[in-house]
Amino acid sequence: MSPFRPDLFAGRVALLTGGGTGITRGIAEALAAHGCETVLVSRKADHVQKAAREIEDTFHQKCHPIEADVRHPDALEAAAAHVVKTCGRFDILVNGAAGNFLCASADLSPNGFGTVIDIDAKGTFNACRAAYHAWMGANGGSILNISATLHYGGTPAQVHVAAAKAAVDALTRTLAVEWGPRGIRSNAIAPGPIGDTEGARRLFPGEAGERLASLVPTRRLGKIADIAMLALFVLSDAGSNLNGAIIPSDGGLALAGSFSHTLDAVVAAMPKSAQP
Ligand code: COA
Repeated sequence: MSPFRPDLFAGRVALLTGGGTGITRGIAEALAAHGCETVLVSRKADHVQKAAREIEDTFHQKCHPIEADVRHPDALEAAAAHVVKTCGRFDILVNGAAGNFLCASADLSPNGFGTVIDIDAKGTFNACRAAYHAWMGANGGSILNISATLHYGGTPAQVHVAAAKAAVDALTRTLAVEWGPRGIRSNAIAPGPIGDTEGARRLFPGEAGERLASLVPTRRLGKIADIAMLALFVLSDAGSNLNGAIIPSDGGLALAGSFSHTLDAVVAAMPKSAQP
């Protein structure tokens, strides 16, 4: 159940990369549920067409599918121009397209490293640039990048993703300063482990997920809905003074770090009166 009013984004238009599945699909649905016209960009045509149909049927808001790979700047420029032509405006850009797999650094090929940099970091830049030239540079807008928390420390087997998300953070902050005077807000959400995504099912299935949840200070994994509601806040007027913010939504996991492994033992060793 959303705490926001149903017409929060009435009359607005949002383009979401990677909008066909997972976290970005959840954000697209939340925007549509609050009156926003949405455009989903994915490199998989059947995927994105099905998602757009389902969003239109469920939320009775226009949802347009566009087949494009964020690694191709020309394709994103065409997508951005199409949004302005078809929808008449382009208020919101959500950069959710991402690649991820586990691979030990020594085994990762240069092309494997570069592929994730190309999708996450360069893809985010390509979409921001396209949005700027098509609409936002002259009219303002709001950009939301999907980052991560895994690069705050060191996460084994994720060197490619950590490097890519660090670049996304740098881009978020830089555009906030450079494009802020144009009325463009640039922010990011940094999800921790989100249990109900395809990525989670691949990266930490079953018991691994339960063990991970036990390390989170809130003792649960995140949900797509957690990220979607936070996105609504950041993108709405409620977040109008947020610019360059990178907001973790991870139940405090990144703060707990390795200490969380021993947290329960530490708490149990405390005097009873001091135990939480
Ligand atoms: N382990 C190690 N290397 C991998 C890999 C894995 N699991 N998956 C891809 N790579 C490497 C490939 O070997 C290749 O490098 P090489 O040419 O040196 O062999 C390089 O990455 C590109 O792979 P390719 O499959 O050709 O690229 P792609 O553009 O088709 O897809 C991904 C790249 C990352 C999107 C793809 O691996 C994928 O579909 N991942 C799952 C979907 C996903 O990540 N969703 C987002 C959830 S957060």
